[in-house]
Amino acid sequence: MAKTKTSYFCQNCGYQSPKWLGRCPSCGEWNTFVEEVLQKEDPEKGSWRPGTSLKIASKPRQIQEINYEEQPRVITADEELNRVLGGGIVRGSLVLIGGEPGIGKSTLMLQIALTLSNHRVLYVSGEESEQQIKMRAERLEVNSSNCFILTETSTQNIFKQIEQFEPDILIIDSIQTLHSAFIESGAGSISQVKECTAELMKYAKESATPVFMIGHITKDGNLAGPKVLEHMVDTVLQFEGDRHLAYRILRTTKNRFGSTSELGIYEMLGSGLREVSNPSEILISQRDEDFSGITIGAMLEGNRPLLIEIQSLVSIATYGTPQRSSTGFDAKRLNMLLAVLEKRGGFRLGNQDVFLNIAGGLKVEDPAIDLAVCASIVSSYEDISIPSSVCFAAEVGLGGEIRAVNRIEQRISEAEKLGFKEIWISKYNAKGLSQENYKINIKTATKLEEVFIRIL
Ligand code: TYD
Ligand code: MG
Repeated sequence: MAKTKTSYFCQNCGYQSPKWLGRCPSCGEWNTFVEEVLQKEDPEKGSWRPGTSLKIASKPRQIQEINYEEQPRVITADEELNRVLGGGIVRGSLVLIGGEPGIGKSTLMLQIALTLSNHRVLYVSGEESEQQIKMRAERLEVNSSNCFILTETSTQNIFKQIEQFEPDILIIDSIQTLHSAFIESGAGSISQVKECTAELMKYAKESATPVFMIGHITKDGNLAGPKVLEHMVDTVLQFEGDRHLAYRILRTTKNRFGSTSELGIYEMLGSGLREVSNPSEILISQRDEDFSGITIGAMLEGNRPLLIEIQSLVSIATYGTPQRSSTGFDAKRLNMLLAVLEKRGGFRLGNQDVFLNIAGGLKVEDPAIDLAVCASIVSSYEDISIPSSVCFAAEVGLGGEIRAVNRIEQRISEAEKLGFKEIWISKYNAKGLSQENYKINIKTATKLEEVFIRIL
C-alpha cells in the first residue's frame, strides 16, 4: 500500500503547507491549518474523465485557425437570473451560488430546475432527502416531467449516473457535501471541495453541460473555507438578504460571460421566490402623509436605476456623546456628510443623535444618494417634510458642492416613470439635458444651500 500522504491546508484560503503553521502566510488568519490526507491515486484512473479515451495531446494552434461559433445560451423563465448571468446560462459553464444557510439557495435552484421544463435537469442533493425536496416542489406549485432528483454525495457515483442519464443541466446542492473517493479527508474540507469542484469543472467543459453548484457561506461572509473555489469557477453568484425581510438579492461577484454589475431581486413568498421586476415600487413605502426625515434618492445598482427611500432621525443627544448609526449606508460617509452640513451648511449637528436607514434592507454604495441623505438629515433636523414627489440624484463634495453623477438620463427617466414631479441634480450634469424632453421638473444646483433654500 502506498504511504499515506498528508499536507496542511489553511481552511480559510486554501494555502497548502507541508507542516503545521500557526498563522497562514497567505491570508494572515490564525489557527486555520488542518492536516488533510491527500493520497491521490493514479491520476488517469482517478476521477471521472470522459474525454480520456479520445484525448489528444494539446498542440499550439494559430488563433485564426480556431473555430468559434457562439453557442446559444439557455434562456430560463427567470428574467432576473438571465440578466445576472449576462443573458442566460452558458453551455459548459460552472456557476457557484453562495449564500448563508436558509436564505433560499435550494429554493431558487429547484425553482429553476422545475421551470426549465424543456431541458433534462438533474438535481443532485446531498443535503436533503427525496421527500424533503418533493415537499418543497409542492410548495412551489410548478411541475415538470423533466426534473430528476438524485440524493448522492460520492462524485464517482454521481458521474456514473450522469453518464447514463446525460442531463442538459446539472445542479449540485451543495459542494460541501460531496466527496471524491480519491481524496481521503472528510467532505467539506479544503482538499475535498477543491477536488470535487475540479471534477465538476472538467465534466462541464468536456460535456458542454452547465453545472450549478451551491456553496455555503461562513459567518464572516466568505464562501465556506475555500476562496480557492472562486478562482476555479466561471461565475460566482451571491444570494443575499436579511432573513427577516422578504427581499433577496442575487448578485454576481465574478462572471466570465458577462458583467458583474447586474443584480436580480426576488421576494420570498409562501410559494417560492417571485421575481421583482420593478424594485423601486417595493423600496419606496406608500405613504399618504409626508413625514420629516424621509427622502428619495435615485441610485444605480449595476445597470439598473432604482429609487430608494432614505429615512433619518435627528434628535438632541441626551446621554453625553451623540450617537451616529447607519443601516445600509457607509458610516464613514455619513460622518463626512454630517461634517459638511455642519461646516458648510451651518447646521449644528454636533450635539445631535443621527440615525440613518436605507429602506428595504439594501446596502448602497452609489455616491449619487449623498444629496438625498443630506436632505433627509436636514429635513429631520428642521422637522420640515420634503414632498414625496421630490427625489435627488447627486454626489456631495467636501466643500458642500453638488457634484455630477454618471448616467443621469437613466436616473431621471426612472424617476419620471415612477411619477415623481421633481428631481434635483448637479448643474454640471445638466449639460446636454433638455427639460423639454421630460415631464419631470429638473432642478439644478451647485451648492447645498441652494437646495435647502428652495425646498425647505
Ligand atoms: P432554502 O432554499 O432551504 O435555503 P438554503 O438552501 O439557502 O439553505 O430556503 C429556506 C427558507 O425559505 C426557509 O426558511 C423557508 C423559506 N421558504 C419560503 O418562505 N417559501 C417557500 O416557498 C420555500 C420553499 C421556502
Ligand atoms: Mg439548501
